[in-house]
Amino acid sequence: MVTTRFGTRPRRVEQLNGPFEPHGQPDPHLGQPLQVGLFAWNIQGGTTSSKAVLADPDRYQNYWKWPLASHLITEAERIGFDYQVPFARWIGQGGETSWNESSLESLTAAAAAATITTRMLQFSTAHSNYNFHPLHFAKFGVTIDHISGGRWGLNMVTGYSAKEYAAFGHVEPPEHDESYRRADEFFTLVKHLWASEDPIIFEGEYYQCYGGYVNPKPTRKPRPLLMQAGQSEIGIDFACRHAEWIFQVQPTIEEYRNVAERIHNKAASYNRKVLVSTQLWPIIDKTDSAAQATADWIAEEVDHMAAMNFMESAKRQHTSSTFGWDELDQKSSDPFGGIGKERFLSMALGIGGYHLVGSYDTVAETLRELHEAGIESAVISFFDPFKGLQQIEEEIFPRLKKMGLRR
Ligand SMILES: Cc1cc2nc3c(=O)[nH]c(=O)nc-3n(C[C@H](O)[C@H](O)[C@H](O)COP(=O)(O)O)c2cc1C
Repeated sequence: MVTTRFGTRPRRVEQLNGPFEPHGQPDPHLGQPLQVGLFAWNIQGGTTSSKAVLADPDRYQNYWKWPLASHLITEAERIGFDYQVPFARWIGQGGETSWNESSLESLTAAAAAATITTRMLQFSTAHSNYNFHPLHFAKFGVTIDHISGGRWGLNMVTGYSAKEYAAFGHVEPPEHDESYRRADEFFTLVKHLWASEDPIIFEGEYYQCYGGYVNPKPTRKPRPLLMQAGQSEIGIDFACRHAEWIFQVQPTIEEYRNVAERIHNKAASYNRKVLVSTQLWPIIDKTDSAAQATADWIAEEVDHMAAMNFMESAKRQHTSSTFGWDELDQKSSDPFGGIGKERFLSMALGIGGYHLVGSYDTVAETLRELHEAGIESAVISFFDPFKGLQQIEEEIFPRLKKMGLRR
């Protein structure tokens, strides 16, 4: 017999999967034609697996420490960034640079970041398959939503690292597509808990909840914004059913155009509106050749071992083209693990994000092309975050304003 609250019988809910928007879907737009976010500020070395970071560890590698990270976040807000997204990892990648070995956890860090900002959205990341219950994330989220005055959002990830699954007690990670079926149920239940005025009974295949409820309700109405960054077909389908922001990484502008169109059509088939976003790894300088020289130096210094460890731990992502490298062979004599220099460097530098290397004009023009192809938001991880923010403020935002991409 399920216990009741104040004598109320819990209400059995029937909908177990998305799309599910009990109070309607939040508007994905924040008011900027091209939204801009700060990515991977919370983790050692960010998205750059290169011994170049050892040239000045505090500047290139250790900005995740709170005295620096808090300054990065307030600087990002001051110059007009719209949101921050952490790179949520539980196990680092080692190598000569100890890539991603230290990091700040994304929910607790968002709660802290909420108290030092007033305008920027603060995202956290939920690894839905790592043994949490949806009630945990519904409650964690509503707490940061209240602390931030409705400026909190959640990145819904399934978890791709076999090493991390093992750390949470799963010797074998769940099969890729099944992990999305579990996530679907997980976030449907989170939405029930944010929306329902009564205790609920939810009996899914993977999750059950008997008499659970969350009070207070989120201050952001109808609910906090959700983002998702799956690259596989089933990942994109899940995102179209549950998220407002969908992050894609593609090698060419044309492929961005195609994927943006595909995503909008799919979301529309679920009666939902989404915003297609990308992830960028920029190296910016006065001239194209100066930017390229820095990018070449970082690539020459690539931390092969750390990058290989990262890819090896994510090998099961065989269903998406960007994250697919079944043929990766860590023991091969090829320094690029048999997957080719280009693909290797794309993951080692920017974890698959678009390489935006060039002068101020080149970078602004590429952003214009991406926007024209359907990209309405970009989350940026910098090799040199403080310099990167300064360049965005002084050189890139003014150009984007002239182009009508920033207000
Ligand atoms: C912008 C962006 C941010 C991401 N952030 C995280 C993260 O913080 N933690 C994580 O485990 N995975 C993260 N991922 C990985 C995705 O959630 C997803 O697992 C990956 O893109 C592979 O897609 P698939 O799951 O559809 O195969 C991120 C991916 C992108 C593109």
